[in-house]
Order: sequence, then structure tokens, then C-alpha cells
Amino acid sequence: MTGAKIFTIANQKGGVGKTSSVVQIASGLARRGEKVLMIDGDPQGNLTLFFGAKEKLDFSRLIDDLAKDAKPKPEAFINPRVRRNLDLIPAANKRLRLDIHDTQIIGDYERFAEFVGALRNRYDWIIIDSSPSNSPLEHMLIRASDAVIIPLEFQLFSVSGLESILEEVRACSAEAGREIHVHSLIFTKAENRLHRVQTYRELFSTFHIPVYEICKSEYISRSLEKSRTIWECGPSSYAARDYRTLIDKGFPVPL
Ligand SMILES: Nc1ncnc2c1ncn2[C@@H]1O[C@H](COP(=O)(O)OP(=O)(O)OP(=O)(O)O)[C@@H](O)[C@H]1O
Ligand SMILES: [Mg+2]
Repeated sequence: MTGAKIFTIANQKGGVGKTSSVVQIASGLARRGEKVLMIDGDPQGNLTLFFGAKEKLDFSRLIDDLAKDAKPKPEAFINPRVRRNLDLIPAANKRLRLDIHDTQIIGDYERFAEFVGALRNRYDWIIIDSSPSNSPLEHMLIRASDAVIIPLEFQLFSVSGLESILEEVRACSAEAGREIHVHSLIFTKAENRLHRVQTYRELFSTFHIPVYEICKSEYISRSLEKSRTIWECGPSSYAARDYRTLIDKGFPVPL
């Protein structure tokens, strides 16, 4: 497979740092000089709100067109250059929900995967944001991906959440007939002083998945509030250092 690698950032738990991770990773890769497409696959549209894109048709219209087999044209959906080297397919319809009983659904999964796959040759990376749920919509996003990135918080409840996402990724791999990898776990809001943090580190290391930690930082909250990436509003912060490590180690420069 050549061209862009496709990632979905997923966790059915809300507020774990999915959207902030898409923002910082995608913009960090774009600043490194690579061409990046973000897809706002979350009907809440937080990623779209951050970048303020609105000129184009949105993700729910894309899903609609794919369901009707209307052969959507990427140009109608892609907001070019929300930052240098960084494009976005926005989400603007909060009511979008795929119906699990829809008999067309399997066909739709394939069509979405084909639509995104056809964009591989235009980009180095494609990064998809997803909603805090475990519905056919997230299933469709994961099935279209090469790998999944899972943001988490250091909590005991995160273990059962993680197990169910891993199960979901395995199910998607089996249906797609190819392996969808789990790229990494990202512990957002990491605090060394947190009680039992070392115990959590040991516990999560038993999953044998690369782990990254992003320190809890005011700069991340400020970044989201001001719609400025961490590279724009706090490039020398500890959070920027942590995201830089994640990008350098986890996203090798494409050949
Ligand atoms: N490293 C961090 N330090 C401090 N706060 C953080 C950090 N990462 C994320 N947050 C905060 O956590 C909150 C949730 O982040 P975010 O919106 O990215 O999560 P999400 O998983 O996308 O949420 P949702 O499930 O609703 O889509 C935000 O207020 C954000 O500022
Ligand atoms: Mg989000």
C-alpha cells in the first residue's frame, strides 16, 4: 500500500483528549512539512469548530452521498489549507447517526473506505477524529483505517474501556480481511504526582502497545479555547515537548 497512512483516533469515553490529539498531531506533522488531511468524523464537530472551516459540504453529507452511491467528489468536501499543509473535511450536522439496522450499512462501510483510500495518493497522513461512542459510525471509521490511536486517562475504568476498543478493532480487522493495527495508547493529562500512576503504567504495559504520555497542561486547554495549536500558542511548553516526542517516534518521516 503506498501513500498516506490512515489513522482513527478513537475511544468511546468522552473528554479523553481525542480531538486535542488530532489537532496537535495533525498540525505537528503538517509543520514538519508533510501533507495532512483531517476528517472530522464526530458529529459534535469540535475539530471543525477549532479550525473554523465552513465553506464546503460536510461529513454527514458525504455519508449520505455514499449511501446513495452518488460518487461524491472530494473537492466538494475538503477545506484546503486550514493551516499550511493541512486540509479538513468538516462536520456540521450534529444529528448524524448511522442506523445499525440499515441493511445498506455494510455497503456504506466499504464505500467510505474506498473514498478515503482514494485520497492516499494526495497526502502523507490522513487522521480521523471520532465521537465518544461505540456505534456503527465509529465502526465505519475504524474499518477504513490502517491503525487506531487510543487516548486514555490513567484510571482503572480505562482498562475495561480499552478492552472493548481492542475488541472492536479486532472485529473491524476480521470484517475488512486485513490487519488494522493499534498504533499507540496516549495518556493525555498525565500527572506524575497522581496516586498509583506507576501501578497504572505497569498495568497498561501488559497490553504490549506503544504508550505515550502527554502531561496535563494549561497550554492544551488554552490551545482549544483560542483555536491555536500548541505549536502556535505554547511551542516550548511541556505538552508540546510530549506531542513532539510522540510525532518523532510514532510517525516516521515518509520516504
Ligand atoms: N494534556 C492535557 N492537559 C490538560 N487538559 C487537557 C489535555 N488534553 C485534553 N485536555 C482537556 O480535556 C478536555 C477534553 O478534550 P477533548 O475535547 O480533546 O476530548 P475528546 O475525547 O475529543 O472529547 P469528546 O469525547 O467530547 O469528543 C478539554 O477541555 C481539553 O482542554
Ligand atoms: Mg472530541
